[in-house]
Amino acid sequence: MFASKKRAVLFKGKDYPVEVQEFKKPRLVKDQVLIRMHYAALNHRDLWVIKEQAQHFPDGIVLGSDGCGVIEDVGEDADPMLVGLEVVINPSLDWGDNPIVQGDRFRILGFPDNGTFSDYLAISKKYIFEKPEHLTFEESAAVPLSGLTAYRALFSKARLRSKEKVLITGIGGGAALWALQFAVAYQARVYVTSGSDEKIEKAKRLGALGGFNYKDPEWATKAQKETGGFDIIIDSAGGDQFNKLIELALPGGRIVNFGRTAGNITEVATRLLYWKQLSVLGTTMGTRDEFLSMLDFIEGRKIKPVIDQVYSIDQVNEAFQRMENSDQFGKIVLKIAR
Ligand SMILES: NC(=O)c1ccc[n+]([C@@H]2O[C@H](COP(=O)([O-])OP(=O)(O)OC[C@H]3O[C@@H](n4cnc5c(N)ncnc54)[C@H](OP(=O)(O)O)[C@@H]3O)[C@@H](O)[C@H]2O)c1
Repeated sequence: MFASKKRAVLFKGKDYPVEVQEFKKPRLVKDQVLIRMHYAALNHRDLWVIKEQAQHFPDGIVLGSDGCGVIEDVGEDADPMLVGLEVVINPSLDWGDNPIVQGDRFRILGFPDNGTFSDYLAISKKYIFEKPEHLTFEESAAVPLSGLTAYRALFSKARLRSKEKVLITGIGGGAALWALQFAVAYQARVYVTSGSDEKIEKAKRLGALGGFNYKDPEWATKAQKETGGFDIIIDSAGGDQFNKLIELALPGGRIVNFGRTAGNITEVATRLLYWKQLSVLGTTMGTRDEFLSMLDFIEGRKIKPVIDQVYSIDQVNEAFQRMENSDQFGKIVLKIAR
């Protein structure tokens, strides 16, 4: 399909099908670089965009926050020596000056700015970083959004110390798996939850000490009995099980949330919250410094992402279906380069 033409996965609004369509090579301005994309990766955010953005975008917006490729051209304010560089992209755009919270101009690559599910991406040189040497293109594409979010959640927000007991919810997810790998590499004692016993077994092979199936109504009682509770809980689910996390947090514990895969939180045991002096911390993405630290952490410890499956860009809807069904264990990757 479009063998010599440029392609992109275009989103035109939630009432329109997401399709691979012909797409013009972007023109560069100022400090932008043109990246020939090799691989991209899905995030749950792409699904939220597809399901929730009601507005009609007649020209379409290119989806995708994660990706990796090679610089093919540069704008007038970018160094021509960058051509040929193999890069990953930081999708955290215009964070602002305050490391505590993003500013008003903050956006995430892939909506409303054109994203990575495309043969070509034009983006400011501020957001490109050399591809980690120990990773392939395919692996590098799986790093940015979920790696950054997990890194900030664990280190900047929860301030993980080695040997602490950590619980990570919904371990099949891309961000959850990065949190698992980072925490294990930092010598934390890590437990997980999942809706699948098979995924819990896979998590154990990555260093988790145990796991609990959140579909079992008794899972929290079992977790309490087996572990005695947790110093840190990294949650991307929210929903009506959040109260169980409050129950499972140790006195002085930190619960960090960055997602709502299971919907809004329905109940909070207020007495436990204050009596145990818990910190409930929200987080989103991260700063440029955190992106750099995350890449250093991955490179220093030679950590590789868990890749679930690789689809071709033409199979993007199958890829989304797999994510929608929560069938994946790890990152779902799109092959773009022909
Ligand atoms: N705020 C941010 O900056 C930010 C950044 C990254 C992600 N997020 C959010 O974090 C969530 C995960 O993102 P992702 O891209 O890693 O998603 P993903 O790869 O699609 O993973 C989602 C995972 O959620 C788990 N899950 C489903 N229902 C659950 C439930 N009732 N309780 C606990 N876990 C459940 C499943 O794990 P099992 O199959 O193991 O059950 C599934 O694999 C999404 O809501 C996303 O929007 C936010």
